[in-house]
Amino acid sequence: MKFFIDTANLNEIREAQDLGILDGVTTNPSLMAKEGITGKDRVMQHYKAICDIVDGDVSAEVIATTFNEMIAEGEELAEIDDKIVVKVPMIKEGIKAINYFSEKGIKTNCTLVFSAGQALLAAKAGATYVSPFIGRLDDISVDGVALIEQIALIYRNYSYSTEILAASIRHPMHIIQCAEVGADVMTGPLSAINALFSHPLTDIGLAKFLADHKKAGTK
Ligand code: E4P
Repeated sequence: MKFFIDTANLNEIREAQDLGILDGVTTNPSLMAKEGITGKDRVMQHYKAICDIVDGDVSAEVIATTFNEMIAEGEELAEIDDKIVVKVPMIKEGIKAINYFSEKGIKTNCTLVFSAGQALLAAKAGATYVSPFIGRLDDISVDGVALIEQIALIYRNYSYSTEILAASIRHPMHIIQCAEVGADVMTGPLSAINALFSHPLTDIGLAKFLADHKKAGTK
């Protein structure tokens, strides 16, 4: 399972990259705004800064919502770095744009996916990644992990190469459940990734090993 970090914060990206288990980054307009990154030039520079840190795919989302504008914006984003994946919303114009990018060999991430039907369209258009938002589904009492499982079954049935990128991850159990049902990738906050490290028995066990070692050394 690939691990992506879902942030535009450079320090968090560096921290995750330093762990040696990071496979990529996803961003969105809200995450960029949270870091105070506004204006085309600054946005482009920030994507480049992210690409320079991370060893893997970096999703950069288009703001445009019409086919021609998405193509122009996506091609410009793709020129920033080979690591850029053009993130396109799940709308009719977006599916047309994904089809276009796919024929041009530009990687895409179909975002804002909330149903199996939408995921099927993304795969048919040739998306590199499809991003079902499982946390936002859970927020409205719909089982987000069940959607990942359903999409995995459909993609297996037809051998689609589109990778399932479980997005809107909120906590470590989401990561584990997505791994169980076969998500190819998960993208989550640093807090969810860091939470995977924790187990009280690890802490107790390590403390005892170190104490016993110290005791043996004093004999
Ligand atoms: C995915 O690519 C999105 O950026 C993200 O996972 C959305 O997460 P949220 O629902 O926590 O905003």
